[in-house]
Amino acid sequence: MKQKIKELFNEKFGTNGVMYASAGRINLIGEHTDYNGGFVFPGAIDKYIAAMINVNGTDKVRAYSADLDSYCEFGLNEEDAPKEQWARYIFGVCRETIKRGFTVKGFDTVFAGNVPLGAGLSSSAALESCFAFALNDLFNDNKIEKFELALIGQSTEHNYCGVNCGIMDQFASVFGKKNCLMRLDCRSLEHEYFPFDAKGYKLVLVDSKVKHELVDSPYNKRRESCERVAAKLGMETLRDADFAMLEAVKAKISEEDYMRARFVIGEKQRVLDVCEALEKGDFETVGARMYETHNGLSKDYEVSCVELDFLNDVAKECGVTGSRIMGGGFGGCTINLVKDDLYDKFIETVKAKFNEKYGHEPVIYPVVISDGAHKCED
Ligand code: GLA
Repeated sequence: MKQKIKELFNEKFGTNGVMYASAGRINLIGEHTDYNGGFVFPGAIDKYIAAMINVNGTDKVRAYSADLDSYCEFGLNEEDAPKEQWARYIFGVCRETIKRGFTVKGFDTVFAGNVPLGAGLSSSAALESCFAFALNDLFNDNKIEKFELALIGQSTEHNYCGVNCGIMDQFASVFGKKNCLMRLDCRSLEHEYFPFDAKGYKLVLVDSKVKHELVDSPYNKRRESCERVAAKLGMETLRDADFAMLEAVKAKISEEDYMRARFVIGEKQRVLDVCEALEKGDFETVGARMYETHNGLSKDYEVSCVELDFLNDVAKECGVTGSRIMGGGFGGCTINLVKDDLYDKFIETVKAKFNEKYGHEPVIYPVVISDGAHKCED
């Protein structure tokens, strides 16, 4: 992929640039907790977006998306926002960097990626983090704090892409570390690396290939539900809410908001349980919590779909230790914790059964936990 980017860059701009990359992510547990001030437990993966960039001495960005075979040119002022959705991510990162008082000048770029789109693996966060990291390196002597880079990506989603997301994806993409998951407290922003060495188990993603679209989507509505319940409880977020508090306001909120908050309160605890279980090597508990999360995301948060529920059922029938829908929902992947000796059988079964029911095989991605945003040495 990097070779292809280099050749294309040379072809389009007649020179070379510096290569940067940033990763997609998985999340072991802690879904829809980030914008509720709770905990998440993601890691970066070996699927990434790479971009070659060269400062061009103008006040324009000239960008080429190799995967979409689409070219776009835009200026760096607010009124220069491009129409192309893919270019808005880059424009947003430039604007958010400038708004924070940092420098961005014109540059040329060619980028490509192998993070599957719409699979819940945060291809957009990988794109944002790649450019945020690069702009910091190229124009700002790396003065921008790493966390600020993640926040630049998140604000890009909010202000230029219409998704009111939390901080998990951009955090994972910027902070990712090989072989480590990270527990992030989304309120204090404290984070801790947990070496992930699941001896005897594998993590594998099963991609339903059902696409989700978070823009103008129920994702933002889920967030609004949580904010309404928090406001009823007199709190800023659901972080400090518990089941008793929720019961106390049950009559004053809608049934739907009640269900959303019930999921979030349960999920907050599940992340902590999983971290504790991992430290003891207790993968049975990790897996049990993953199934509970799936159930909550499906029944209370209502972000699953029949295909993903089916994948979850097949995993359970096969005796897979843990399985759940991963990411924002409305399609994409399940993440599965599978014993080594069950792995081949599970993959074979899930492919065959899904194919029989939905007419296409799911795509299997073994998880390799990798580094986040970086400059590529060549
Ligand atoms: C999407 C958002 C994240 C997070 C997850 C759900 O990936 O971008 O901020 O809310 O959904 O956990």
